[in-house]
Amino acid sequence: MANIKAKPVKITETILRDAHQSLIATRMKTEDMLPIIEKMDKVGYNSVECWGGATFDASLRFLKEDPWERLRKLKDGFKNTKLQMLLRGQNLLGYRHYADDVVEYFVQKSIANGIDIIRIFDALNDLRNLECAVKATKKENGHAQIAISYTLGDAYTTDYYVNIAKKVQEMGGDSLCIKDMAGLLVPYKATELVSAIKGAVDIPLQLHTHYTSGVAAMTYLKAVEAGCDIIDTAMSPFAMGTSQPATEVLAETFKGTEYDPGFDQNLLAEIAEHFRPLRDEALQSGLLNPKVMGVDIKTLLYQVPGGMLSNLVSQLKDAHAEDKYYDVLNEVPNVRKDFGEPPLVTPSSQIVGTQAVLNVLNGERYKMITKESKALLKGEYGQTAKPVNKEVQKKAIGNEKPVTCRPADLLKPELKTIEEEMKMYKQQDEDVLSYALFPQVATEFFQYREAQQKSIDVSVADKENGAYPV
Ligand code: CO
Repeated sequence: MANIKAKPVKITETILRDAHQSLIATRMKTEDMLPIIEKMDKVGYNSVECWGGATFDASLRFLKEDPWERLRKLKDGFKNTKLQMLLRGQNLLGYRHYADDVVEYFVQKSIANGIDIIRIFDALNDLRNLECAVKATKKENGHAQIAISYTLGDAYTTDYYVNIAKKVQEMGGDSLCIKDMAGLLVPYKATELVSAIKGAVDIPLQLHTHYTSGVAAMTYLKAVEAGCDIIDTAMSPFAMGTSQPATEVLAETFKGTEYDPGFDQNLLAEIAEHFRPLRDEALQSGLLNPKVMGVDIKTLLYQVPGGMLSNLVSQLKDAHAEDKYYDVLNEVPNVRKDFGEPPLVTPSSQIVGTQAVLNVLNGERYKMITKESKALLKGEYGQTAKPVNKEVQKKAIGNEKPVTCRPADLLKPELKTIEEEMKMYKQQDEDVLSYALFPQVATEFFQYREAQQKSIDVSVADKENGAYPV
């Protein structure tokens, strides 16, 4: 062993973003995070993923928190650790394509408020949808990590990923991530895939997977042995199930080997101690559904990512049709095929999932087609790996002409208009972006914020009048 050169695996901690997005519908509050970040800052993580994805929407919509304020508070606490976010290319954190001026401004403000590494992906792996965000990140001296959505299907051979990896390097990605949203990458396939990619590009390779199908920890082991530089894990109270493998487990797995990340298990135990009551609380309130905690080997069949599984469960619950769960899971691959075999990740996972729910609940396929399904079939999200089903496309868009260019080329600058529309609410520059992404939700949040500020003023001025924030 003495002559073996150490190449410690780097670890990105996801408990502040993906882990709670996957397990408890992104409901972790800033106040749940702040007391522990000083300790987390001492672990030696490559980065902490703590922003982006669904956290932005959930903060404004459900938690009545300003996401920008959260980011600034996290930045204050993490003095030594890089902060990482997840960005859906031209979709940013929303569900449509934004014009380039909004994308550039969003990236600029994310980095200005504390983000170091931006993981940028496109649901369809259409790299044209990443160009603008990647350029903007590099312009602001951020680290642009380009993520390829990993999925299975006829189009998705090892060569497919190697070719995209080469393009990622050419377009200036500082690192590359294989983003396996559903836990579809099995251990020996990881050996093959990682070796092939490492043989083709020089930039660091990170692997992101979910525990859903039960193989994730083994997949990381094989990936690291094959040369993968960085892996994503979550502290054990919010690990496994539809989340990531546990940080403590992987740290221990590599201990004493050339890959040893050198983490202190006692420190990790203290951090886990902080999060455990939050998990117990979530289980008790029903926020954490035991259904998403087990191993679901069927995800290998349905290829449904963690967040999407819990969304389907709640959509069916709302429709009082929970017994249709497996019918919907069976319909998902059919819809996916009709839609050009896209990887199932936000927003395509929601689009395919909702369409599958409609197809099942209506008892007839494509009797109703959502606006988003139409847009996907029309090419408004970009190019799919396979052609879409022409019949279904015809049913959805009639004689409209499909889009073949970079979709954002069709969008005029929109920042000025948005700024004008929301100026009565603006208290900081970043508010413009919150409004750009979620106009209605942000407006409600701004009104709540104003009401709260007023009631605080009133209660300071006149404690007797009983006005309190709602
Ligand atoms: Co994920």
